[in-house]
Amino acid sequence: MMKTISLIQFGLGGVGRALVERVLAARDEFEWRYGLHVRYIALCDSRSAAIDLDGFSFTQLRRMLAAKEQGQSLEDLEFGYKRESLEDIVDIAGGEDVVVVDVTASDETTPALLLALERGYAVVLANKKPLAGSFETFRQLTQSGRLRYEATVGAGVPVIATLREAIIPSFDRVFRIEGCFSGTLGFLTTGLEEGRLFSELVREAQELGYTEPDPREDLGGMDVARKALILARTLGWPLELKHIPVESLFPADMSSGSVQAFLQALPRLDESYRQKVEAARTRGHTLRYVARLADGAATVGLREVPKESALGQLRGSDNLAAFHTEVYNQTPLVLQGRGAGVHGTAAGVLADIIALVR
Ligand SMILES: NC(=O)c1ccc[n+]([C@@H]2O[C@H](COP(=O)([O-])OP(=O)(O)OC[C@H]3O[C@@H](n4cnc5c(N)ncnc54)[C@H](OP(=O)(O)O)[C@@H]3O)[C@@H](O)[C@H]2O)c1
Repeated sequence: MMKTISLIQFGLGGVGRALVERVLAARDEFEWRYGLHVRYIALCDSRSAAIDLDGFSFTQLRRMLAAKEQGQSLEDLEFGYKRESLEDIVDIAGGEDVVVVDVTASDETTPALLLALERGYAVVLANKKPLAGSFETFRQLTQSGRLRYEATVGAGVPVIATLREAIIPSFDRVFRIEGCFSGTLGFLTTGLEEGRLFSELVREAQELGYTEPDPREDLGGMDVARKALILARTLGWPLELKHIPVESLFPADMSSGSVQAFLQALPRLDESYRQKVEAARTRGHTLRYVARLADGAATVGLREVPKESALGQLRGSDNLAAFHTEVYNQTPLVLQGRGAGVHGTAAGVLADIIALVR
């Protein structure tokens, strides 16, 4: 018996479009492998929506992708329209076996996600913001067990699944978790280790599109702090973002002003980073930007780690999570892999969708 799964997707940016492509590519395989027919019944961007309760055709989805690729809005297509709230979309597009997917970078989706859960739908997030608001909202979103969020930490690398499906239910005791959860900051710290200048690395990361248009958004560490918060809450620790000390990689006096002025001022930090790398090297250590969770608390910042440790061996933009637990006490359980990029992220989202509906 074939089961039909109906997707409502918020967001058609890089990850959203990669997800539509992946769903289209996987359709035949999912039909024979799982007996699941996966279709789209609604898609939204920041202003508009397209809804078809019978499911959009391959051609219609391709046209939406092409329009979004060219920077258009869904309302520019004949089957798109200027939308009202996302809750309205959940209302209109309801039904059996619905999964709501949030691949926006917005904190405005929470009410629609809560409504979807209230209706009994499943929810999948790549968007960290709803889970990084208050602990109470995190609890409301996750308590039903019908919401998954693998792609919020480490993109497709199964960090959350390892915690939720291997470590926590096996009654293993977590002593600490250490991880590198920013591809951009991994690129910078391994570049520093190779003797390159901080300012040159930041500029290159920006040119390669590894950073946000304003690199301070990555260098400030808040994105990593949100990931640490999500991990901590997954462990059941009732933390708020303000409880997590976050070390920024630039001083406070460089936080205002244009991106151009920031990039021009960066060389003044080069010498102090060179000295830090050198000091670490004399101790057999190297620098990594680390999220650390232990004893109910989380911290995020630049740390010296032993060169031969899993974190010290990490290269380039890969992400890594090392779980030090009662079971994995001699050597930690380590997950490592590409922790950014639209395809890996879309892969993590799709695996969550299938896990919820099988
Ligand atoms: N890219 C990665 O490697 C990566 C890795 C892990 C996790 N993530 C997470 O995945 C999410 C998506 O990333 P992305 O790179 O695809 O971002 P993006 O390219 O900026 O796309 C965001 C999309 O969300 C839409 N949007 C914004 N506000 C909305 C709202 N209120 N309602 C509905 N749609 C809204 C935007 O609409 P418009 O098209 O109208 O602007 C756009 O289509 C983010 O939360 C990001 O942190 C990304």
